[in-house]
Amino acid sequence: MEFFEVIHTQRSIRRFKPDVVPEELLWEMLDAAIRGPSGSNSQPWRWIVVRDAAKRKEIAQAVSAWMATRQDRPALRPEGAQEPDASKRRTAQAAADFFADVSQAPVLVIPCLYQLTSPLGDAQHLLAGTSIYGAVQNMMLAARAQGLGTTLMTFQRGIEDTLRTLLRLPLDATPACVVPLGYPAEGQRFGPVTRKPVETVVYWDDWGRAKGR
Ligand SMILES: Cc1cc2nc3c(=O)[nH]c(=O)nc-3n(C[C@H](O)[C@H](O)[C@H](O)COP(=O)(O)O)c2cc1C
Repeated sequence: MEFFEVIHTQRSIRRFKPDVVPEELLWEMLDAAIRGPSGSNSQPWRWIVVRDAAKRKEIAQAVSAWMATRQDRPALRPEGAQEPDASKRRTAQAAADFFADVSQAPVLVIPCLYQLTSPLGDAQHLLAGTSIYGAVQNMMLAARAQGLGTTLMTFQRGIEDTLRTLLRLPLDATPACVVPLGYPAEGQRFGPVTRKPVETVVYWDDWGRAKGR
């Protein structure tokens, strides 16, 4: 697949076929991930690939329990589907449907910051993500090129205790996100994605100095 086609059509997929994803594709995708940048090339990561059905179920139950207690992001709750903007409404509904049972994804990839030292040692700091999210995007683009759907999700923060126990994470490993993965379900399509035009979000030499293309 052509590089820019991959970029332009990589979008969030939240409904999956139950089909097994060949392990060779997972290796290729993860090998693309670890080509990503990190501070001082420290590669402060481990990638946990959860395929085991019982473990995915346990993660799904923890997500459901967490969602039931959440007050902060009504858009991700089923009633958030009242959102007036149609595109946001669809996203909210798709997210709520997925959160009802995240084990519907045949694979959950959990990228973890591990023994982070650069650009700093605090995995909770905003800058910590700079040493892993580029690699996560590599992984998602590689998945797209292979016809696999993904979404970058951040529900790990609500179920970190469960993940720590279930996956036996050491204290110096911190889940940075969760990426559900699988072949898109019937009716699920890759991009083009909806974004504001590039001219409206790029400034040249000074804040606010936009120009036409
Ligand atoms: C930091 C971050 C957190 C996200 N968290 C979630 C999430 O918890 N659940 C979800 O369904 N999508 C999540 N997403 C996916 C976004 O909703 C998605 O990237 C955005 O709506 C653009 O949609 P598109 O990828 O289909 O173009 C997250 C994306 C990012 C970058």
